[in-house]
Amino acid sequence: TTIPYDLEAAKKDGYDTFMLKEIHEQPHVIAETLRGRIHQQHIVLDELKDIDFSKFNKVYFVACGTAYHASLCGAHVLKKVAHLPVLSEVASEFRYNDPLIDEKTLAIFVSQSGETADTLAALRLAKEKKATTLAVANVLGSTISRDADYVLYTCAGPEIAVASTKAYTTQLVLLILLAYYIAQNLNQDVHDDVIKQLQLIPQYVDNILKDEPVFAQYAHMLKDMHDAYFIGRNLDYASVLEGALKLKEVSYVHADAYVAGELKHGPIALIEDGSVVIAVATQPHIAQKTISNIQETIARGARVILLTTHHEEVKNVQNTYYLPDVEPTLQAILVAIPLQLIAYYTACLKGCDVDKPRNLAKSVTVE
Ligand code: G6P
Repeated sequence: TTIPYDLEAAKKDGYDTFMLKEIHEQPHVIAETLRGRIHQQHIVLDELKDIDFSKFNKVYFVACGTAYHASLCGAHVLKKVAHLPVLSEVASEFRYNDPLIDEKTLAIFVSQSGETADTLAALRLAKEKKATTLAVANVLGSTISRDADYVLYTCAGPEIAVASTKAYTTQLVLLILLAYYIAQNLNQDVHDDVIKQLQLIPQYVDNILKDEPVFAQYAHMLKDMHDAYFIGRNLDYASVLEGALKLKEVSYVHADAYVAGELKHGPIALIEDGSVVIAVATQPHIAQKTISNIQETIARGARVILLTTHHEEVKNVQNTYYLPDVEPTLQAILVAIPLQLIAYYTACLKGCDVDKPRNLAKSVTVE
C-alpha cells in the first residue's frame, strides 16, 4: 500500500492556503523580529552602532507595494518620536523625481525580497548622491541588502503567498524599533511603557487572531460588492492603504483608501445605499473626527465596519471591533490582522486563488 503524500499540503502545515498559514505565523515571527532587540528597557540595533544620527537633516523612505505602506507607518512614527523631517516615496517615482538627497540624508529602502527592480535602482541613485543607505529586507543576502551601507533583517521567514502579510507586520515592528532607536540616540524621551508594550505585541496579535470568525463574518458584507471604501487619518491612513491593497489583491473587489477628512471633497459622491465603508480609528486624538466622517457615510446609506480603540458607543455602526488599547504608535501592527483576515475571507467566499492572484508576482525584478 502507498500512503498518499502531498508535498504542497504538507508545506501548508494543515492550513488551506499559504496566506492563512502566514497570517497565523505572525505572533511567532514578530517575536523573532523583536528577539535580542530590547535590553534593559533600551532598543539595541547593533548593526547601526557606527551611525551618527545627529548628522542627518532628513530621512527618506523608499519602497514598493506593501513595503511602501510599511514605510509610511515607519515614517509617521519616526517623525513623531525622533522629531526628524521624513519623506516617503514609492521607488518608481523616487528614481525619476530628482530627489533632494545628499550626505545629510538617511535613505531607508524597505523590501521583503530585496530584489525589487525599482527599489534597487532607487538605492543606487541614493548612493550616487552620497546618502547613507539602510536596507530593511527579509531575504538574507539579497541584492538590496548587499548593496546598502547598512542592513536590518526582518525575521518573517519565507513568505510564499503573493499577498504580503507576515513580511508587512515584521517590517512594521522593525521600523518602529528603528524609530525609537533613533529617538534614543538623539536623546529624545522614550517611555518605558512603549518598550514594555512592544514586547507584548506577539501576545496581542495572538489574541486578535482568536477573533478570526468575526472577520470571516465581516467578509460576507464584501463578497458581492464591486467597491469598498477604506478611511482613516494619520497613522490609520497608512493602515487603510494596506487594507485596501490586500482586499483588491486577493478578492478583486475594487477598494480605495481615503484620508477621512477628504471624504467630503469628492469620494462621498460615490457613497450610496448599501456601500461598504471600512473605517480605522485607533489614534485617540483623532478617532472622534473619523467617527464623525463615518456618520456622514451612514447618513447616505453606507454599511460600516469600524476597527477602533475608542470605547464610547458609536451610533448606527453595525460592526465595531475593539482593538487593544496600546500605545498609538504600535496600532498599525494590530489593525493589520483584521484587515488581512477580512481580505482573505472575502477572497475565499468568492472562490479566488488566494495564494496566486491573477496578474501579480511575488517579486518584481523588471521595471
Ligand atoms: C510585489 C508583491 C507585493 C510587494 C511588492 C514589493 O508587487 O506582489 O506583495 O509588496 O512587490 O516587494 P518587495 O519584495 O520589494 O517588498
